[in-house]
Amino acid sequence: MAFQLIREWTGIQQFPSATQTKLLELLGKLKQENVSTLTILVMGKGGVGKSSTVNSIIGERAVVVNAFQAEGHRPMMVSRSRAGFTLNIIDTPGLVEGGYVNDQVLEIIKRFLLNKTIDVLLYVDRLDAYRVDTLDKQIVKAISDGFGKEIWRRGLVVLTHAQLSPPDGLSYDDFFSRRSEALLKVVRQGVRMRKQDTQDFIPVVLVENSGRCNKNESEEKILPNGTAWIPNLVKTITDVVLNGSKGILVDEKLIEGEDPNQRGKLAIPFLLAFQLLVVVNRIKKWINDDIAKEPSPYWA
Ligand SMILES: *[C@@H]1O[C@H](CO)[C@@H](O)[C@H](O)[C@H]1NC(C)=O
Ligand SMILES: *[C@@H]1O[C@H](CO)[C@@H](O)[C@H](O)[C@H]1NC(C)=O
Ligand SMILES: *[C@@H]1O[C@H](CO)[C@@H](O)[C@H](O)[C@H]1NC(C)=O
Ligand SMILES: *[C@@H]1O[C@H](CO)[C@@H](O)[C@H](O)[C@H]1NC(C)=O
Ligand SMILES: *[C@@H]1O[C@H](CO)[C@@H](O)[C@H](O)[C@H]1NC(C)=O
Repeated sequence: MAFQLIREWTGIQQFPSATQTKLLELLGKLKQENVSTLTILVMGKGGVGKSSTVNSIIGERAVVVNAFQAEGHRPMMVSRSRAGFTLNIIDTPGLVEGGYVNDQVLEIIKRFLLNKTIDVLLYVDRLDAYRVDTLDKQIVKAISDGFGKEIWRRGLVVLTHAQLSPPDGLSYDDFFSRRSEALLKVVRQGVRMRKQDTQDFIPVVLVENSGRCNKNESEEKILPNGTAWIPNLVKTITDVVLNGSKGILVDEKLIEGEDPNQRGKLAIPFLLAFQLLVVVNRIKKWINDDIAKEPSPYWA
């Protein structure tokens, strides 16, 4: 892979000081746990705000946001370091083209990630959308098939355009919980896991990248409920990273198409065969022993 330029994370100074303080605290917490690099993979459909979210986190216009033209087909990694901590964020092209998941785009993303460890997956969609469909399920399935379902243990669902007025009769909280429940359901179905599992480990976070995002008196960009969203997002990322699961190493095998969900399972048939052999032999022995031990019938 080409030489990666890691620049000083100066964008952090663009944030209001309250946000800076919280971010530095979170980075400190990660370093305390010996995490000095974070590699965040951002995926989702086109036009949902992936690039804007990358720029918001970094605090500068690191990637070009282009809402109207077809997106480029290349992933892009932005690397910034600050006080011995390196943040890598990988923006990716939308996975859907002409109503289908574009497997080729997924392949390109995988190759781009060769020998990298994905610490966090941000699965981005919009809050202000009203339906989920089979396409969403296919995207989740494509990600799970490509990287292994374990990637969802390091996953967050990120909903952009958080500053919205819900349709008539719904409170903001109701709208948010319906939308996130619908998306988590799709993730569950796409990954094929139980309801309880996703609720336990896939957090849903809100994001508002627009310049019109409301701010509180400390100039922090806030969600409708007053929470400063950038520290909230980074805090959730930190929680997920420190929650005991492992990052996903994208190695040659994964890229060559070995099904990541089958790793370790190959051993099972052999194990079974072995056990069967042992058991069968033992039963044979018992039978032989029994025959040998069996006293001669009394009439003999
Ligand atoms: C971090 O690394 C240091 C030095 O290797 C070690 O002493 C410490 O126990 C580690 N901390 C954690 C939380 O793993
Ligand atoms: C990836 O890692 C493997 C094994 O460590 C190494 O052989 C290979 O050259 C690496 N590839 C790249 C592109 O860094
Ligand atoms: C961390 O793990 C615990 C236990 O599995 C779970 O209850 C909690 O929701 C997880 N937190 C995050 C942020 O994933
Ligand atoms: C702005 O929001 C942050 C995060 O909730 C909070 O710490 C800070 O006190 C708020 N500032 C004001 C003036 O409300
Ligand atoms: C505001 O919303 C965020 C995102 O949903 C949530 O994490 C936070 O707990 C909420 N804060 C309050 C005070 O309700």
